[in-house]
Amino acid sequence: MTSKALRFDQWEPEIDERATAILAQMTLEEKVGQMTQLSKYWRGDLVSAIREGRVGSLLSLTDVYEVNRLQRIAVEESRLGIPLMIGNDVIHGYRTIFPIPLAESCTWDPDLLERAARVGANEAAANGTHWNFAPMVDICRDPRWGRIAEGAGEDPFLGSVVAQARVRGFQSADLVGGRRVVACVKHYAAYGAAESGKDYNTVDISERTLRDVYLPPFKAAFDAGAGSVMTAFHELSGVPATANSFILRQVLRDEWNFTGIVLSDYDAIAELIFHGFATDHKEATLKSVLAGVDMDMMGYAYSVHLVDLVREGQVPESLIDEAVRRILIIKFQLGLFDAPYTDETLAQDLILCEDHRAMALDVAQKSMVLLKNEDNLLPLSAAHKRIAVIGPLVQNQHDLLGCWRCVGEDQDAETVLDGIRTVLPEETALLYVPACEIEGPELDITGAVNAALAADVAILVLGESMEMNGEAHSRAHMGLPGRQQELLEAVWATGTPVVVVLMSGRPLVIPWLAEHIPAILQAWHGGIRAGRAIADILFGVVNPSGKLTTSFPRAEGQIPVYYAHKNTGRPADAAGIVQFTEAYRSRYLDEPNAPLYPFGYGLSYTTFEYSDLVVETPQVGGDKNLVVSVTLTNTGERAGDEIVQLYVQDLMGSVTRPVKELKGFRRVSLTPGQRAYVRFEIPVSQLGFHGLDMEYRVEPGDFNVWIGPNSVEGLKGTFKIL
Ligand code: BGC
Repeated sequence: MTSKALRFDQWEPEIDERATAILAQMTLEEKVGQMTQLSKYWRGDLVSAIREGRVGSLLSLTDVYEVNRLQRIAVEESRLGIPLMIGNDVIHGYRTIFPIPLAESCTWDPDLLERAARVGANEAAANGTHWNFAPMVDICRDPRWGRIAEGAGEDPFLGSVVAQARVRGFQSADLVGGRRVVACVKHYAAYGAAESGKDYNTVDISERTLRDVYLPPFKAAFDAGAGSVMTAFHELSGVPATANSFILRQVLRDEWNFTGIVLSDYDAIAELIFHGFATDHKEATLKSVLAGVDMDMMGYAYSVHLVDLVREGQVPESLIDEAVRRILIIKFQLGLFDAPYTDETLAQDLILCEDHRAMALDVAQKSMVLLKNEDNLLPLSAAHKRIAVIGPLVQNQHDLLGCWRCVGEDQDAETVLDGIRTVLPEETALLYVPACEIEGPELDITGAVNAALAADVAILVLGESMEMNGEAHSRAHMGLPGRQQELLEAVWATGTPVVVVLMSGRPLVIPWLAEHIPAILQAWHGGIRAGRAIADILFGVVNPSGKLTTSFPRAEGQIPVYYAHKNTGRPADAAGIVQFTEAYRSRYLDEPNAPLYPFGYGLSYTTFEYSDLVVETPQVGGDKNLVVSVTLTNTGERAGDEIVQLYVQDLMGSVTRPVKELKGFRRVSLTPGQRAYVRFEIPVSQLGFHGLDMEYRVEPGDFNVWIGPNSVEGLKGTFKIL
């Protein structure tokens, strides 16, 4: 069971009083100090800055002794003794590294993800972290963008559920030694819509798309009590996000009443100059503070110019007071004034402990997606006496950890070869050939082909390095890197059956693979237990259950390709277009419109049948629940989990609506032959959108509803909102 979580949007009145008392004693310089966050890599004299109250928070500090040493200077040697808040990026684990967040989302298991997030927070808290720069909730429909690895995929509904789970996990009320962590939701807002998938690039989208697609996971995170938010690097429809008063003031503060801290991204204030939005650091400071940024990460702007701007009357001191009050309140909520130091023994029994490693394995197993399994080639059985294991990622520890590894270490990871050796029947012979590097020029075709020829089956472990993903790591060509495709085709040509395990931080473009290779397991960058999880799935110890949370394009030219697109006036598959010939439709000449593998898709070693869809509320009021049920039967021979998905389509609206939208899902475990009655009750209030006036509304009218195994298949019904 998950545990209780802290809410940072609620606090005792006593905290207000204490914050007011401190604020009353602070000089302007000390106030600006609280609004300044420095990294341990800062080039100045950190100790003096802390002692003089010129810094309120530090980032990238993971040594608990160093944290306590600097905290002692803040608490015991600075004039007012205000404790520091230590921030880190605990994105998918601290030392016990879990699968990358995109992979984690493929579990569709919020309860598990909450517990996984809690593991990261616990290990981080034990080493002195108070502030976690996560969850990253950026919806992304463009896998060229390297940061797709950090989020939960393409869908706002799933993204919102995952965002809430992660916030609850990071902000668990029962972390080790009574320590506390506050989440920082990022990157506000619509960073994942970067043009052409290039990081930091321009985003120019309609306000409706912003509100319907990109903002919901942020709002959901705040509804779960997240205490802070990080701005983004890009410009949003003409105004850089870090100085964008529309999103930072109007939406965040006025509409949502967000009470927490707004932190800039790393040096993002100074970057207003490159955006062409500020002439110098001083103007960048002015624009950011007026827009509502409370704290400057890597503060070369606020620390230098903010005091002057207030003294010159360009920035009202009341604005500074509001920001500092928010920062102090969070520090009080974290308990830092009463317990500023971290017990240095807390981490000993916690970091990489058996429970944490077991949970990393559980998440890895559930995050992997079986994309193809022709003639049930998988799971491999005792009949396979000689197995060739080929490829650059077979005996690799480094890349399994994926981007953002915090203090994760390569040596903690079990490789695929380790995993296979653990689960392999003793009598099976293993022929291992690395054959090539992920990107390098060398290729040992002969070794690989000979191994495959000598084996009953060949497992190829292929894909991306961790460095091909994450911040500033976009790709324009998304096939297998280096000479891996050549290797794959040579092994396939031997005629030995081939299983491909794909490791990556994004969906790759793999049409050849999908056509020729009988069995494909998408394993992502699966964290320290990935090797074992892969082996468990390949050899049938575990039945795969993950489903995609991002569409796999057939070609880079299809991007962005996502399931919740609009219909257009000339849909590719519509009947009844009379005026124009077949050719004049919304489609490509040289590729189908559909992705290679759709959102929600994933196979199992068993089969599930959907039957008896019942719309219990064929006519439903706007203040009621839509109730739809289905019977799910495990019709195969193994126990398995199915992720049952519910989609709706609003057929006609005052603005056009997507062809499908996910509105519910459930992970259901069934033994062979077992059936389950799966019933969804969905508040009709959640079936709305932002209208022409930008107000959220639910419009009466006809809807389709589907319950099924992915965004393409499913049983269909209809209902009407009255
Ligand atoms: C990233 C943030 C991260 C910050 C601190 C920035 O470059 O965009 O996601 O939290 O660095 O490490």
